[in-house]
Order: sequence, then C-alpha cells, then structure tokens
Amino acid sequence: MKRMRSKVILVTGGAGFIGSHLIDRLIEKNRVICVDNLSTGSCKNIEHLMDNKNFLFIEHDVKKPLKLDEKVDEIYHLASRASPIDFEKFPVDILLTNSLGTYNMLELARRDRAKFLFASTSEVYGDPEKHPQSENYWGNVNSIGMRSCYDESKRFGESLVSSYQRKFKLSTKIARIFNTYGSRMRADDGRVIPNFITQSLNNENVTIYGEGKQTRSFCHVNDMVDGLTKLMSSKSAGPVNIGNPSEIKILDLAKLIKRMTDSKSEIVFERMPENDPLRRKPDIEKARKELNWKPLTDLEPGLKITIDWFRKSC
Ligand SMILES: NC(=O)c1ccc[n+]([C@@H]2O[C@H](COP(=O)([O-])OP(=O)(O)OC[C@H]3O[C@@H](n4cnc5c(N)ncnc54)[C@H](O)[C@@H]3O)[C@@H](O)[C@H]2O)c1
Repeated sequence: MKRMRSKVILVTGGAGFIGSHLIDRLIEKNRVICVDNLSTGSCKNIEHLMDNKNFLFIEHDVKKPLKLDEKVDEIYHLASRASPIDFEKFPVDILLTNSLGTYNMLELARRDRAKFLFASTSEVYGDPEKHPQSENYWGNVNSIGMRSCYDESKRFGESLVSSYQRKFKLSTKIARIFNTYGSRMRADDGRVIPNFITQSLNNENVTIYGEGKQTRSFCHVNDMVDGLTKLMSSKSAGPVNIGNPSEIKILDLAKLIKRMTDSKSEIVFERMPENDPLRRKPDIEKARKELNWKPLTDLEPGLKITIDWFRKSC
C-alpha cells in the first residue's frame, strides 16, 4: 500500500494560546512550522515540541514577507494580538498584522497553492443588534472606536482572504472565533477568564466591568481546535462561527469561578469599557451542517482543567 506523504503545515501565531494547542494536534500526523514574533506568545507554550524532528520554530514578524524554502500545504493564520488591553497599547501593530501580515501569508499560500485558514473573530459583529449572531449578519462596528483596530482589521483580513479566493482561486477558509479559554492563556492579558481565575486564586478583588449583566459564551480550546481542523479539511470556505452557544452572565461567571477556587475574594464593579458588547452568542448551525462540529466541553469541566493549570503554572 502507498504511504501518504505527511503534510507541511504552517501555523502563524503558533506560540500563542490557541496556536500552540492547534500545533499539539497537528504534529501527531504532520510536519509543522510555527511562525511567531513572541509579542504575546511564549516559548514555554512550544518548548515540549523543540526536540520533535517534525517541528520547526521560526521567530518572525508576519508584517514582513516570509521567505520559506519548504513548500507548505496548509496555512493556519492565527498571528494577531487578541486581548483588549493590547487594543489601547498596540493599535497600529494590530492593524498592520491583520492587514499587511495577512497579505504576506496569503502571498505565501498563493506561491505554494496552499489551503489558507484565517482566524477571524466574533468581534467582526461589533456590538451586535441581532442575537444570536449568524454568519449572514453584517455587524455593528464603530470604525473609529478603541476596539476598531482589532474589529476593522479582522474585517479587512476577511475581505482580503475573500479577494484572494475570487481573484486567484485560492482555497481559503474564514473561522469566526468566539471567546475561547483554556490552559496557556496569559494570566495578565485582560481577558475575563484568566482575570477571574488569577484574582480568585490570589484572593484579590474580582473585578467586573459594568454591573455584570452582560453575557458571554465560552468555548474550551479543545473544541476550538476540533472546529478549526474540521474547517480546514472540509469543503466549506466559511465564514463559519466557531464557539460555544451557552451564554452566561459575567456576574454568574465570577461567582462560579470564586466557588470553584474556594476563594475569599470580593466581587467589585468598575466602569464598563467603551463599545464593550452587551451580548455575544454564536449561532453555530452552519458549523453543525458544514463541518459536523459542535462543542463537547461544558463550562464547569472546562474551567476545572483551566483552574488546575493556572494553579500549577502561575
Ligand atoms: N482566544 C480567543 O478567545 C479568540 C477569539 C477570537 C479570535 N481569536 C483569534 O485567534 C488567534 C489566536 O488568538 P489567541 O487567543 O491564541 O491569542 P495569543 O495572543 O495567545 O496568540 C497570538 C499569537 O500571535 C503572535 N503574533 C502577534 N502578532 C504577530 C506578528 N505580527 N507576527 C508574528 N506573530 C504575531 C503572538 O506572539 C501570539 O503568539 C488570533 O488571531 C485572535 O484574533 C481568538
């Protein structure tokens, strides 16, 4: 029987939270090249792979063209700062990473006729007027607001990817990723789950922005990796929402994490940031139909794994 050649897969942002989990899955059957500038990612997330002969790490900023001798079969383009505290500190970097960076990676895909998956975001829906959000909703984004560097550059990225598909007949995929959580998130990156877990574990005040009535839905990273790999191997071009539709109020999330960590923390309330959406919940019918995917990890067991990891690592 003829042996199948293993694929060469490039993962940009591979030293980050989702990217490193994705590589752990892909490396089982493929050669993986990880490209990352380590701006928010960490070598710690990939150090267990460094001796693997099927793994190559290249420290590189995707805002610059990437010269690769090897031909790649697939590109998962995840490189981008993604945490709200960075929107204020690094807006230009975020804009250029998702525009110029996406262009550079698309050019590489065009050279190799590689399949290309773009990690977009639920933030393209802005502060949505429609619930839950389905892929045919065009969004409600403030193009000059504090979050616009992220929202609008991801929207530009989606447009660029779609143009490469139409103009150069490239096989492209757009994943609209909703809030994802799990091990390897940065403790200080301003996202709600690591915030609440580290504050609770340290018995510090748990800070809620606004009254905590805003809802979010959280997808465990293992489910996210399933969704992304299924999208890459499907016929679907997307955009496809990948997220967990179970909604929880932020106040209830704070109480749950406090209980699960046996914390003595107090819950305190602070001013709500500008343009922070009140509700965010994916409609995942398209992912069910086109990818045969749905999330399998409920919030409590997923949080338990995450809390255990933060206990050991931080
Ligand atoms: N985690 C979520 O809830 C979520 C939600 C929606 C979308 N996303 C998207 O998923 C992707 C991964 O997010 P994450 O949560 O793992 O974040 P992360 O910050 O952990 O990972 C992003 C990685 O990209 C790298 N990076 C950033 N700019 C770069 C550049 N110019 N060149 C090379 N590398 C660069 C960082 O060093 C980091 O390793 C991002 O594109 C993000 O927008 C994530």
